[in-house]
Amino acid sequence: MCGIVGYIGDLQAKSIVLKGLKQLEYRGYDSAGIALMQEDTLQHTIFKDIGRVSHLASLVDSVSDARLGIGHTRWATHGPVTQANAHPHQSRNGRFLVVHNGVIENYKQLIKDYLNDEVLKSQTDSEVIVNLIALFAKTNPVPIAILKTLNLLEGSYALLILDQDNPTVLYGAKHKSPLLLGKCPKGHILASDMLAMCEEATHFYAIPDQTLLTLSEQHVDLSNLEGESLTLTYEHLEMDALQCDLGNHPHYMLKEIYEQPTVIRRIVEKYYEESLLSDEFIQKIKAAERLYILAAGTSLNAGYIGKVLIERLANIPVEVHIASEFAYHPPLLVKKPVFIMISQSGETADLRACLINIKKLGFPIFTITNVKTSTLAREADDFLEIFAGPEIAVASTKAYTAQIAVLAILSEALGHHYDMRSKLAQVAQSMDYFLSQASHVQNLVKMLLTKRNAFYIGRGLDYFVCLEAALKLKEISYIQTEGFAAGELKHGTIALIEKDTPVIAIISSLSIAANTESNLQEVKARGAKALVIATDDLNLSDVDIVLNHVDALLTPMVTVLPAQMIAYYAAHMLGYDIDKPRNLAKSVTVE
Ligand code: G6P
Repeated sequence: MCGIVGYIGDLQAKSIVLKGLKQLEYRGYDSAGIALMQEDTLQHTIFKDIGRVSHLASLVDSVSDARLGIGHTRWATHGPVTQANAHPHQSRNGRFLVVHNGVIENYKQLIKDYLNDEVLKSQTDSEVIVNLIALFAKTNPVPIAILKTLNLLEGSYALLILDQDNPTVLYGAKHKSPLLLGKCPKGHILASDMLAMCEEATHFYAIPDQTLLTLSEQHVDLSNLEGESLTLTYEHLEMDALQCDLGNHPHYMLKEIYEQPTVIRRIVEKYYEESLLSDEFIQKIKAAERLYILAAGTSLNAGYIGKVLIERLANIPVEVHIASEFAYHPPLLVKKPVFIMISQSGETADLRACLINIKKLGFPIFTITNVKTSTLAREADDFLEIFAGPEIAVASTKAYTAQIAVLAILSEALGHHYDMRSKLAQVAQSMDYFLSQASHVQNLVKMLLTKRNAFYIGRGLDYFVCLEAALKLKEISYIQTEGFAAGELKHGTIALIEKDTPVIAIISSLSIAANTESNLQEVKARGAKALVIATDDLNLSDVDIVLNHVDALLTPMVTVLPAQMIAYYAAHMLGYDIDKPRNLAKSVTVE
């Protein structure tokens, strides 16, 4: 959701910024823009438009040798998707340019108090920032003008600012929205995440909230919002640009689906060989009267599986909550809770709102995340990494199974020995087997799905997988899909079943197989077209996708794979942009 990149140094800014924007595409966006500053002529050029970064690249002059530039991918929040609303925004006097990620909650008040609203060219909250800077710069040095502006802003921002009168400086500021500083052999990069800098930067710094940065090719000055200097401590940037490469796959989603067995093996190696769960950490969680899992989207669906794993193996009660609900409608808490936030990106604003509230109450929080430099990893008391590698496709796949793997290892550590290590190895094998012959799913999709609607039904753990399966299908194929508890269907929703309605059943346990099968008969009797995904140990007849069985508690890691493939092939069949579905953002940094 909104990505920003800025570069200052000795190399061509245009190519670095455009490459960075391309890497940030996965976050989700609807328009893109870039501003380049020519040092010798003190001229800047702005290009922006709705549509893809490749379109933006075609607009940018091929000759620009600017060494300073800022770029932005916009995911509309304030104002529709138009060229005028795309960033960069320019101050009325033309002197300053800004790209912004975040939301300025008091922008209307700021317009009223400081600006004449007739001057604004866009409907965005961001344009206010650049005009405030220009206003204060009339009577103050630029850094002071920026600080004055930042001190007025309520909400969240990652900002890059260019001053036409000083083409050797790039300003940046951060509060609540992600922004990293990258140190390159020839210059500096500021970007929303590491992917945008992994080819150039050798070191990075995770910028704290309420920071102003003043960058030149050689130097970085940091200050807080009172103008007091801060110290900078770089970390080595480990990310390899190859990890973000598509390889031979046509889409990132397919690549990431196929990476799952490798990711599971990596997690097992990391957690068991390197003993990543310290006794102190485990004891802290064991002391909890109850655990509260908070998450959104796919991570929430992994959380439901985590609840079952922890309750069964560690005997600690667990509640799972939607982050955006918990933030404003928390339940009655026990006296000694521990909070687990699950977030692939570690940036989800709904979770951060929860984190701030929980911190005020003084309760322990840890994050399960794929990005160890993320805001939630830094701000929680502890974090567990899922080692899935960069997940680029908006539809999350490998992060889901990796989150479950980490939750499984954690459950064993909290409870009793379960031989999880070899059970996870068996999961990776079962995944390998399915993926080696998964292309036949394409034919099943063609026979089963139409554009209209679909249902996934299951019971117990299978029901939780149905929630994730339905989310996958709807988010990339736009087929309206519901994940339903098989036994609950008859209490109302069965009214939606008509001739040829696709119903997919997931069955992985003998104890519920007969019941789910009879629910399937009920819908078939009303004309539904059925497809069954089941594990081989059940010996069911009429199964369309048979999976090698794994431990009963780990079946979601295997049964979700066909659902991921069904979603992939459905979007493919319907001709949609699989990696960048409409309206969605990978990292949702607004509440
Ligand atoms: C967005 C993405 C989903 C993701 C959810 C939570 O809505 O489109 O794929 O599951 O955010 O993201 P997180 O990074 O917190 O796991």
